Amino acid sequence: MERLKKPLLVYYFLPALPVMVILTAFAISGRVAEEDLKSRYSYSDFESSKKCRSCHPGTYEQWTQSLMSQAYTHHWDEIEYFDLAVRHAEVKPDLKEAVDGCNGCHTPLAFMSQKTFPPPRPSEKSMANESVSCEACHLIQSARTDPAFNFSYVLEPGMTKYAVRVPGVESPAHKIVTSDFYKTTEFCANCHNEKSPYDVWVKSTQLEWKEGPYAKEDVRCQDCHMPKGGPYLNAIMTKPYDDARLHLFHGGHDPGKVRGTIELRVEPDIREAEPGETIVFQVALFNQKTGHKFPTGSVEDRIAWLHVEATDAKGKVYHLKVDKKGFEGEEYTIAGDYLAYQDMGVPLGISDFKGVQRDGIPEGDRIFRMPYFDPEGRMTMMQWNTASLGVDYRLGPRETKVEKFTFRLPFDVAPGEMTVKAVMNYQLLVKPVADLLKVPADESEIKLVNEHFTTVSILP
Ligand code: HEC
Ligand code: HEC
Ligand code: HEC
Ligand code: HEC
Ligand code: HEC
Repeated sequence: MERLKKPLLVYYFLPALPVMVILTAFAISGRVAEEDLKSRYSYSDFESSKKCRSCHPGTYEQWTQSLMSQAYTHHWDEIEYFDLAVRHAEVKPDLKEAVDGCNGCHTPLAFMSQKTFPPPRPSEKSMANESVSCEACHLIQSARTDPAFNFSYVLEPGMTKYAVRVPGVESPAHKIVTSDFYKTTEFCANCHNEKSPYDVWVKSTQLEWKEGPYAKEDVRCQDCHMPKGGPYLNAIMTKPYDDARLHLFHGGHDPGKVRGTIELRVEPDIREAEPGETIVFQVALFNQKTGHKFPTGSVEDRIAWLHVEATDAKGKVYHLKVDKKGFEGEEYTIAGDYLAYQDMGVPLGISDFKGVQRDGIPEGDRIFRMPYFDPEGRMTMMQWNTASLGVDYRLGPRETKVEKFTFRLPFDVAPGEMTVKAVMNYQLLVKPVADLLKVPADESEIKLVNEHFTTVSILP
């Protein structure tokens, strides 16, 4: 498509032409879609999801309960976009393009319609609040890049809506074109894979899926996040279908979806021991539920951790720390007393910001994560400021990890039955960051993933 600004730029940089050509080639390969769709249409070219509700009430209500309908308005999204990203781009203008790009995934209609960014705040109730609306998905025709990432969707507004089914009745409100693209994971990858301005994969849910076991079995995103259910009325004037795709899009914000993702078993190497003796507890963690890694998506925000405690016959509690395995970067996977996220000082306008606690959970617990680093090598939760990634210690689909906890029994431990409990927890946003930015508590509440316990006898 036409790219009017490019020739001008090239003249301006004429003396540096050879370098520019190379740079432009790189820039284009990563950012084609953005240049084409940004500000290209106006809000009046699109229909509101409320209009779809009149004939598709069930689908509308499902969508309303999912994060899709809140991707622009949800508290943490508003805080991160306006208070961190937009401010960061004001200080560092070379980030502006990437920060405008947040809207390409979080509110596509605004991305394509706004002539200036940021769009109005959610409280102004503009059409940007549509977030990932019915139209944002059902006007998509294909992906412009392979792999699909960074809102690489090809989309044109109009009365033609795309979906998979050849409908039983024609719609009086729009044309329907069936497209197998809606059955693919690339459809989701348009927004669920993301590269930072430093060319780092900061979201790779579909890439993780692709290299995992579910891709081989053709179990796709839709099968787990838009399950088939019926009898269900797609539209009020149709016959019910037994296999209609429900628009649940349930993920990390649904405690029931998260629960049971990891199965846990803990066992001791010996069942009886005396005070002063050493017992090694082994915990096996099996990812039986996700089609991608756990955690996935906004990995920079998320924290999943294993906490193990022993309780003796008198009720005294001992916190067990995980045994080190000795791999590179392991320090990021064991909770400790470290400060991180110093780069937030720039958008927050705090000079010489010391950071906040990295983990905010009990020291010595095992963390399943992949740290993101800013250009200065400090851990960051601003994915647009991510220049490199650290060790990937997440749980892959159907992967089992084994952790050991060596416990030397204290001499004053109570004789009798000792219970040892292993608990896997999940938090969408690291607590110290949530507290600093005053993000409402539900974003950092602790979600129980799973737990298991075993017992040993302490001899007198
Ligand atoms: C006046 C009623 C009406 C309105 C308004 C309406 N639709 Fe439809 N739509 C239908 C009917 C009827 C069908 C066919 C349902 C069937 O038989 O499966 C349909 C089918 C669809 C399909 C294809 C699914 C299928 O069943 O094959 C999509 C996608 C769709 N509509 C999206 C939208 C979107 C997006 C909007 C809002 C911009 C919208 N519709 C507004 C009546 C409507
Ligand atoms: C995140 C993208 C996304 C959003 C948002 C979305 N849809 Fe869909 N929709 C899909 C996909 C993908 C399918 C087809 C899945 C398949 O069959 O594998 C689909 C299928 C449908 C169907 C047909 C279901 C069936 O199995 O017959 C209807 C009707 C529909 N959508 C309407 C809507 C309406 C109305 C909205 C807004 C309230 C909406 N969609 C929002 C992605 C989306
Ligand atoms: C137009 C961009 C776009 C497309 C296409 C898209 N998504 Fe999303 N999706 C998002 C955004 C943005 C969010 C984050 C919402 C938020 O701000 O928390 C999200 C969130 C989710 C979540 C997490 C919800 C939660 O509870 O945390 C799931 C699950 C999900 N999407 C599944 C899908 C699936 C499956 C598809 C393909 C059928 C898909 N998405 C296609 C943009 C998209
Ligand atoms: C085999 C089932 C399965 C498949 C296939 C699957 N998912 Fe998931 N997904 C889950 C489960 C279970 C969770 C909840 C645990 C979690 O939050 O990671 C989840 C969580 C998510 C989340 C929220 C992550 C978070 O906690 O912030 C997103 C986003 C998501 N999936 C997108 C996708 C996309 C995109 C695909 C396809 C590339 C996909 N999923 C394929 C099962 C699946
Ligand atoms: C390529 C598409 C894409 C781009 C670009 C993008 N996001 Fe997202 N964002 C997503 C998806 C998809 C999720 C959901 C991932 C998950 O559930 O783990 C998400 C999740 C988030 C979340 C976490 C929401 C929650 O409730 O936990 C925040 C905050 C966020 N994005 C802000 C931003 C900001 C700010 C930018 C721009 C600097 C941005 N995003 C750019 C697709 C994108």
